[in-house]
Amino acid sequence: MLVAPSILSADFGILAKEVIDICEAGADFVHVDVMDGHFVPNMTIGPLVVEAVSAVATKPLDIHLMVEDNSFFIDLFAPLKPHFISFHYESEKHHHRIIQKIREYGIRPAVVINPATPVACLEEIVKYVDMVLLMSVNPGFGGQKFIPIYEKIEELKVLLQKHNSSCFIEVDGGVSNQNIQRLKDAGVDIAVAGSYIFSHKDYKAAIASLKV
Ligand code: DX5
Ligand code: ZN
Repeated sequence: MLVAPSILSADFGILAKEVIDICEAGADFVHVDVMDGHFVPNMTIGPLVVEAVSAVATKPLDIHLMVEDNSFFIDLFAPLKPHFISFHYESEKHHHRIIQKIREYGIRPAVVINPATPVACLEEIVKYVDMVLLMSVNPGFGGQKFIPIYEKIEELKVLLQKHNSSCFIEVDGGVSNQNIQRLKDAGVDIAVAGSYIFSHKDYKAAIASLKV
């Protein structure tokens, strides 16, 4: 299992130190949650802060957009050369156009679906993306209760096989040592975890406990 700590739960007063620490503690990606106060009822960070994160991160950035205007935010963040940019299926009218736009920047595109959005909606998209992110909470906040989405992971695996796709499966929301093994068994490649990791004093031990 690859682990992407979500810095939403970091101490923003010492954000640079937090990013350095999780990278040294074994993170595989730095998961950055971007919220616009419209698609989700919360706001987080913009390009100035993400640039500061990028400057100290020794692991690639995984940018999760929770915004209404994906195109606008892609133009803001693409110059930072993140590994992935994920956009929400629910917030976009022109899915192929937005995927192409991310790819033209030389960045791997990923699509995200909310817990109540069925996997079947990805049928026409899955072969164009490098990752599918399945939300296991409703996006907007860290520290929410995990919604069991194990069957959706299995459905997604079947869909990926049907399209001969080797794209990554990522899960985000309420991930902890209590559900990580079952997520792994269902076929998850990358686990995002915010409150679970940052509530531990020992980030190395917390990240290691997710590397099943
Ligand atoms: C929620 C964010 C998540 C969040 C995860 O909208 O996308 O990345 O930070 O936090 P936990 O792991 O605490 O649920
Ligand atoms: Zn996220």
